Amino acid sequence: MEKKVFVITGANRGIGLELTRQALNQGHQVYAGARKASLELRDLADRSSGALRIVDLDVSTDASVKKFADAIDSDHVDVLINNAGYYADQDTAQTVLDSLNTNAVGPVRVTFALMAKLKKSKSPRIGNITSQMGSIADNSSGGSLAYRMSKTALNMFTKTLSLDEPNVIVLSLHPGWVQTSMGGARAPLAPQASAEGLLTVIQKSSAGDSGKFLTYNGKDLPW
Ligand SMILES: NC(=O)c1ccc[n+]([C@@H]2O[C@H](COP(=O)([O-])OP(=O)(O)OC[C@H]3O[C@@H](n4cnc5c(N)ncnc54)[C@H](OP(=O)(O)O)[C@@H]3O)[C@@H](O)[C@H]2O)c1
Repeated sequence: MEKKVFVITGANRGIGLELTRQALNQGHQVYAGARKASLELRDLADRSSGALRIVDLDVSTDASVKKFADAIDSDHVDVLINNAGYYADQDTAQTVLDSLNTNAVGPVRVTFALMAKLKKSKSPRIGNITSQMGSIADNSSGGSLAYRMSKTALNMFTKTLSLDEPNVIVLSLHPGWVQTSMGGARAPLAPQASAEGLLTVIQKSSAGDSGKFLTYNGKDLPW
């Protein structure tokens, strides 16, 4: 497999950590954004012979995203995975705002900050890690208002960006219900299987797929 330059946000735990581990195992260069590097992430970096670089990143502020983008010393980025996200336990006006800021505006900030470098790639790709809970068509139970609204907004970013930047493949990807601190222990899917599927879908997608809302194993989801 050709060596690519990856940027992965929220890389210190959960799905982001596993995406980072697998991208490294595939031989890629990875810039991992994290608010606070975990022991596991630091251990991966120590054993990566320089292939993994950990860079401070809080996607909720312009200043942190600018510093993050400035620290990426590669002249191009092939794959950006906007994975960082949070689930608000309560739904208030403030948690709706916070969720929109982290889960929808965060990916916009990071993408815009890296767009010039993405455009220098031969085949730039962006995976926005969304959720089936952002699907309006699939919402039959209500609840999780802040989270749902933020992922719906992220999906609109995916679709609009795919039209505005036709040379960049951009996907909204539902990772499945995954055993992480967000998904909980009852989730049926291990982070390994989710990350493996997500990386395959991102890497195998073609221009005609851009703007789609897909599961981690490549199935179409309704908006
Ligand atoms: N697990 C599931 O079942 C499931 C289902 C659908 C969608 N998703 C989506 O999948 C993605 C990964 O989730 P996960 O299950 O791996 O959750 P997780 O274990 O809770 O990890 C979330 C990651 O996002 C990071 N993050 C949160 N806010 C951030 C911020 N402001 N700036 C930078 N990083 C931030 C966290 O960093 P800290 O350690 O610093 O908090 C952590 O690395 C999320 O976008 C989530 O919405 C997950």
